[in-house]
Amino acid sequence: MILIGFMGAGKSSVGRALGEYLGWTFEDLDQRIERRERRKVHEIFRDSGESGFRRAEHAALKELLSELRAGAERIVALGGGAFVQKQNARLVKAASVPTVFLDASVEELWRRCRQQADQQGTERPLLTSFTSFRELYDARWPHYSKALFRQETSGKTVNEIASEVVAALGLRQSRLGQSGLGQSGLDQSRQRRGEKL
Ligand code: S3P
Repeated sequence: MILIGFMGAGKSSVGRALGEYLGWTFEDLDQRIERRERRKVHEIFRDSGESGFRRAEHAALKELLSELRAGAERIVALGGGAFVQKQNARLVKAASVPTVFLDASVEELWRRCRQQADQQGTERPLLTSFTSFRELYDARWPHYSKALFRQETSGKTVNEIASEVVAALGLRQSRLGQSGLGQSGLDQSRQRRGEKL
């Protein structure tokens, strides 16, 4: 399954929760890019510009999809701009992997991104003003809406969103995930799953 959506949609948090619940491997495309490039996303933007980042993103996605076997139990979170690039959308379509669009109001997405920047120091090169954030969201929405289905995330916890995705795709919980969605509260990310995004 591939999770798409704008910055702040919860692709990584929901992807991780889904991975544990289903017993599937979770992967974040941005992390693969950083490993391959030996640089952080914001450093790639700074040193090679957005076009350099998009090239690295495309190469990483191609590599990742080539590793997917039919029926592979994997969840992949794409960065907010990945699916918007035509050549990437084509690759995803050819791989026949179900796509899920995680969405929220643009005000809510902005609030989450600002909060992550302030509290966790998350650096997003495209997080500048609210006006350009909104323009980018509006321009990208038609691309995201080509996903198999759209999952609303506003006002929901990570666990609720993950259960709704599981139900919508008709998937079953693995033996490994049988403690339920994030009930153990072992670490901060798990505790967050009981909170709204
Ligand atoms: C981007 C979103 C980021 C990251 C890069 C570009 C975008 O990922 O890939 O900064 O174009 O929206 P997140 O959606 O995980 O923030």
